[in-house]
Amino acid sequence: MSRLGRGSLLLVAAAFLLGGCSGSSWHSLCYLCTMIGEPDQNVPDFFASGYVDDELVGHYNSTTRRAVPRVAWVRKVEKENPHFWDWNTHTGIYHELKMKALQDLDNHSKGSHIWQSMYCCELSTDGRKRGFSQVAYNGEDYISFDKENLTWTAAVVPAQVTKRKWDADLVYSKSLKSFLEEACIDWLQKGLDYGRESLLRREPPVVTVSRKVGSDGLETLVCRAHGFFPKEIDATWRKDGEIWEQETFRGGVVPNSDGTYYTWLSIKIHPEDRDFYRCHVEHNVLPEPLDLDWKVPVISVTSKMGLIVGVLVGVVAGLLAAGVTFYFWKRRSGYQAARKAPSVSDQLSSEVGSAQENL
Ligand SMILES: *[C@@H]1O[C@H](CO)[C@@H](O)[C@H](O)[C@H]1NC(C)=O
Ligand SMILES: *[C@@H]1O[C@H](CO)[C@@H](O)[C@H](O)[C@H]1NC(C)=O
Ligand SMILES: *[C@@H]1O[C@H](CO)[C@@H](O)[C@H](O)[C@H]1NC(C)=O
Repeated sequence: MSRLGRGSLLLVAAAFLLGGCSGSSWHSLCYLCTMIGEPDQNVPDFFASGYVDDELVGHYNSTTRRAVPRVAWVRKVEKENPHFWDWNTHTGIYHELKMKALQDLDNHSKGSHIWQSMYCCELSTDGRKRGFSQVAYNGEDYISFDKENLTWTAAVVPAQVTKRKWDADLVYSKSLKSFLEEACIDWLQKGLDYGRESLLRREPPVVTVSRKVGSDGLETLVCRAHGFFPKEIDATWRKDGEIWEQETFRGGVVPNSDGTYYTWLSIKIHPEDRDFYRCHVEHNVLPEPLDLDWKVPVISVTSKMGLIVGVLVGVVAGLLAAGVTFYFWKRRSGYQAARKAPSVSDQLSSEVGSAQENL
């Protein structure tokens, strides 16, 4: 499967983030380089980012020409290897030059253009390894590396020139192969080690289903999953076990401040069909998928106590208010004061009302 397929820059980035951990038993280290060239600018913009799984760990660009960490845990690497960021800076400069050379080789890329290259290695929890490298031009596949044969596969005709040049450069293909199979895997293992707390976290989603009644007589069921990690989650609304995708509205999967993720999906239904709907959630950390329907909220013992206490407080407050009212009324013999203070029954009904809202 091509990871740098058709589509926009963003799609490419998204595909690469997802591809990095397809099936969440895989972990990945990916470097994504982008060069944006405008015809009226002599110097194109170049930037490179390193990701472990979908977490941005380091960044390099042609403005500063310096690789810098982007996440706190990656700083621990410096303790073991003080030249880590110098090495990354040199790698960044190398790829910047490599991409400029690539652009110069291809004479059809004189207008505004985006070149992207990707270097990824993946390690599965059972020890399997994968590595790949490819280049895209304006969001389309351009050339990809055949790591086993040390050759390049051109995806489009203009890439033939680059293919011939790179095929002949065995020093480059050998070093790329060894990077993907060795150094990259070593760094990935180190990254998973250092970033263990954030990357190897395992938190199952907490799933709830709530219900809103619309003015049109239809109901909206909202399924919320929160507190989960890793990010990959498969949540669907199902009617009688069948996925009901067209009628489902979704929020994206968004991060919480504690590093876990949150998502929601809702569906509009006829109230009489309510019992057929289930929110189906699959997540790597769940022992088995969850199927949740909407449940009439059960008043627990503590909230019942809360209601009783609330009523009592209401009664006491009401009586007090009445007493105070009576006192002022008596003292001033004024009708106004008596009217302003709430009556016992008003007080009671508002207290019970708010106790019920809080359930
Ligand atoms: C370039 O990198 C520097 C840090 O080295 C960063 O502050 C700056 O925001 C980056 N520029 C862009 C356009 O990403
Ligand atoms: C690119 O350059 C080659 C010669 O270097 C030429 O044969 C070819 O027609 C050029 N292609 C374009 C699109 O300019
Ligand atoms: C690459 O090598 C494999 C064997 O490892 C071979 O079957 C395949 O044909 C080769 N591909 C190319 C494009 O040479």
